[in-house]
Amino acid sequence: MRRTRRAPPGGPRLRLLIEGLGSEGEGVGRAQGRAVFVPFALPGERVLARVVHAGARRLVAELDEVLEPAPERVRPPCPVFGRCGGCQLQHAGYSAQLALKRRLLVETLRSVGGLEVGERDGGPRVLAAPEPLGYRNRGQYPVARQARRVVTGFFAPRSHAVVPVEACAIHDPRVDQAVRVVRAWAQRERLRVYDEERRTGWLRHVMARVGVASGQVLVVLVGRHELRCDWRALTRELGARVPGVVGLVLNLQPASSNVILGRRSLPLWGQPHVEESLFGLRFRLSVGSFFQVNTRQAEQLFGRVRAFLGEAAERGRPVVDAYSGVGVLAQVLAQANLPVVGIEVVPQAVADARASARAQGLGGLEFHEGLVEEVLPRLVARGLRPGAVVLDPPRKGCEPAVLEALARSRVPRVAYVSCHPGTLARDLAELRTLGYRLHTLEAVDMFPQTAHVETFAGLVRA
Ligand SMILES: C[S@@+](CC[C@H](N)C(=O)[O-])C[C@H]1O[C@@H](n2cnc3c(N)ncnc32)[C@H](O)[C@@H]1O
Repeated sequence: MRRTRRAPPGGPRLRLLIEGLGSEGEGVGRAQGRAVFVPFALPGERVLARVVHAGARRLVAELDEVLEPAPERVRPPCPVFGRCGGCQLQHAGYSAQLALKRRLLVETLRSVGGLEVGERDGGPRVLAAPEPLGYRNRGQYPVARQARRVVTGFFAPRSHAVVPVEACAIHDPRVDQAVRVVRAWAQRERLRVYDEERRTGWLRHVMARVGVASGQVLVVLVGRHELRCDWRALTRELGARVPGVVGLVLNLQPASSNVILGRRSLPLWGQPHVEESLFGLRFRLSVGSFFQVNTRQAEQLFGRVRAFLGEAAERGRPVVDAYSGVGVLAQVLAQANLPVVGIEVVPQAVADARASARAQGLGGLEFHEGLVEEVLPRLVARGLRPGAVVLDPPRKGCEPAVLEALARSRVPRVAYVSCHPGTLARDLAELRTLGYRLHTLEAVDMFPQTAHVETFAGLVRA
């Protein structure tokens, strides 16, 4: 029998049958009348695990030994898997990851939203990614000093200790290459690295963003303040070692919060954005603008949304793209001759959206800068009657004011794109109360090797 051992920490040791799945991809067993969450254990496995946290209703345990592995257990491709907090599912083969995500989605919709889906026809489909590794087009690596060396990597789970990573399995290799060049330069220049506890030092994060279609790479240093420095050595090195590098930007983050990027960015060399293209449209992506991290899967996802809305959006009535980012969906829909109203809170993203729309000569588009929960109710109160609404909120989902406003507008179709099954379930339950019925439910695997689930839910007014 194959056995997998992990370092045993203190705490009582339990022998468990893993039967369920937690929202962060953990295996779930039962002991002492409580659910036991065991990261890196798979449903169907018998394991030994040590309790590291005991709450009133749940225990958390570290996997100590896999006594009976599931057939889908594989050797993780990354040497720091389990220590770095980035991935949660590398120990499952790729088709098993897709099945786990489908199960997670179905169970969350049922337990949080009281919605029954997936009992027939094998449940909602999860569209597989063509590249389960090396797909992330953007990486932001925290920087630390360890044993006198500058290191870059990722935070360990539930911690701010940096686990050094030389080459990440899920990032585009150009991201790692750019980060390695900056790290070596920081070491040579004896740059002061940010110390979170003492709030001293300068360099906090290194970020790199790749335009997959254009091949362009933008490198961003996140520092605590402006810095007088001769940047030429760094730009020379980047130019020589990172294929496609087009710019270097300094982002200023003086706050002692967990938010990675600050509001101001200063171009140090080249252009302060990369270009990306989807469906033959070109988009400008600046430092702080959101863009889906998996370009190829973004195209699959947006294609689904376009098909759902395009069929039914009533000609002449606008589509609202709420939480529009750099206006990708807005422009994809405008390309299909639908008038679109985008709403987005980040000014840089709105500027990027307007610039790309202008550059490709798209008409019938307007972008509003502001909070969806303020702008949408205002537009509806002034008489906006959309033919369809797209909701693509961040993980916390939509404010009630957003859902109420769209119901008041009596919009016939809603496309909800979600990166968090729990808040999706809550909002779908509310939309059901407001008179909307689930028509389509599909997940698109945007984040292979991790437990994140991206879902597209199409709703129609009942
Ligand atoms: C998941 S992203 C989706 C972006 C875009 N639809 C795309 O796929 O490229 C969410 C976007 O909503 C923006 N955002 C977050 N909260 C917001 C709010 N309350 N009102 C308006 N925009 C918000 C973020 O800046 C981000 O651009």
